Amino acid sequence: MSTPMSMSETRPRYAVLAEGLVKRYRARGRGGVEKRALDGFDLAVRPGTVHGLLGPNGAGKTTAVRVLATLLRYDGGRAEVAGIDVGREPRRVRSRIGLAGQYAAVDEGLTGRQNLEMFGRLFHLGNRGARQRAGELLERFGLVEAADRSAKEYSGGMRRRLDLASSMILSPDVLFLDEPTTGLDPRGRGEVWDAIRALVAGGTTVLLTTQYLDEADKLASHITVIDRGRAIADDTPDALKNRVGGDRIEVVAADPGDLAAVARAVERVAGGGLVLTDDTTRRVHAQVADRVAALTEVARSLQDDRIAVEDIGLRRPSLDDVFLRLTGHGAGADRTPADGTPTDGTPAGDTQVVREGAAA
Ligand SMILES: Nc1ncnc2c1ncn2[C@@H]1O[C@H](COP(=O)(O)OP(=O)(O)O)[C@@H](O)[C@H]1O
Ligand SMILES: [Mg+2]
Repeated sequence: MSTPMSMSETRPRYAVLAEGLVKRYRARGRGGVEKRALDGFDLAVRPGTVHGLLGPNGAGKTTAVRVLATLLRYDGGRAEVAGIDVGREPRRVRSRIGLAGQYAAVDEGLTGRQNLEMFGRLFHLGNRGARQRAGELLERFGLVEAADRSAKEYSGGMRRRLDLASSMILSPDVLFLDEPTTGLDPRGRGEVWDAIRALVAGGTTVLLTTQYLDEADKLASHITVIDRGRAIADDTPDALKNRVGGDRIEVVAADPGDLAAVARAVERVAGGGLVLTDDTTRRVHAQVADRVAALTEVARSLQDDRIAVEDIGLRRPSLDDVFLRLTGHGAGADRTPADGTPTDGTPAGDTQVVREGAAA
């Protein structure tokens, strides 16, 4: 709407901004021992992008989302969403955001359409407004055919899409998605990914938390890696991968007897770096600086020496490599907190439903 007022309103530089956020939980039944779920957390999300918040179980992702979505109060630092201060004006922030997550807020007794219409009425769209908005969203999220079926019969992917649709009732500027594909099969994940892409094409900013490196890689233009309540890296997926090192060349020898010769050829382009040989897979690999030059040179020298190869190629480092390098542990790892203080003694992943309920 190009009213004079909205024209003079400048779009905030960041859709989400967090500076030094701190959130402490008092561990229950442990004599007041505190746990810093957020420990000076920084985040800057550009408008109109998908920003990935990537971290293992217990890293602080849900806490960050709940604080930014004004569902939890924070203990230190500052945060802004859509240019509005989260601590000072939580109600204004709430009017600009949507939230959807791992535990879809879908009423099983209703159809998809009824679910959306109910939310619309809840948000004061009126009967007609709610009906119209439900129709638009069913279309947008590919649920037209299933619209009048009971949500009980929906697949996991359809349920999450319905949840996404309900979080979009008020056309929020910023949408928080907390592990929207956890527990879905590959097809369901693909469906949710398409829905997220469509949202961003429509101008919504998405903050997406995930434990899945490939998901952040596929969807996000920018990734913040969170570990122990702190941002430990913040970059584009490609830059994060480059930080781990350049591309790797991989050669699979046709004959195990040629492995040493293949290793010598690879060594010449590895620039003094480590050349690894795996006898069981007949694979030789090494990091290279100039990918194309390395590939051409190795291919030529193997051909000159008449060494048969089964496969030769370049591999980009995966985000798994990134995580391992940054944190010293894999993305799926579950750890005790940095300071060694016990929380509730149960693995973080399994207690999430309970904690969510307790915190609400
Ligand atoms: N309500 C709570 N009370 C006490 N500790 C909590 C509570 N919620 C989360 N935590 C702890 O805070 C840390 C971060 O949790 P969370 O934000 O849920 O991480 P993630 O979403 O990345 O798995 C974990 O160590 C978790 O055990
Ligand atoms: Mg979580």
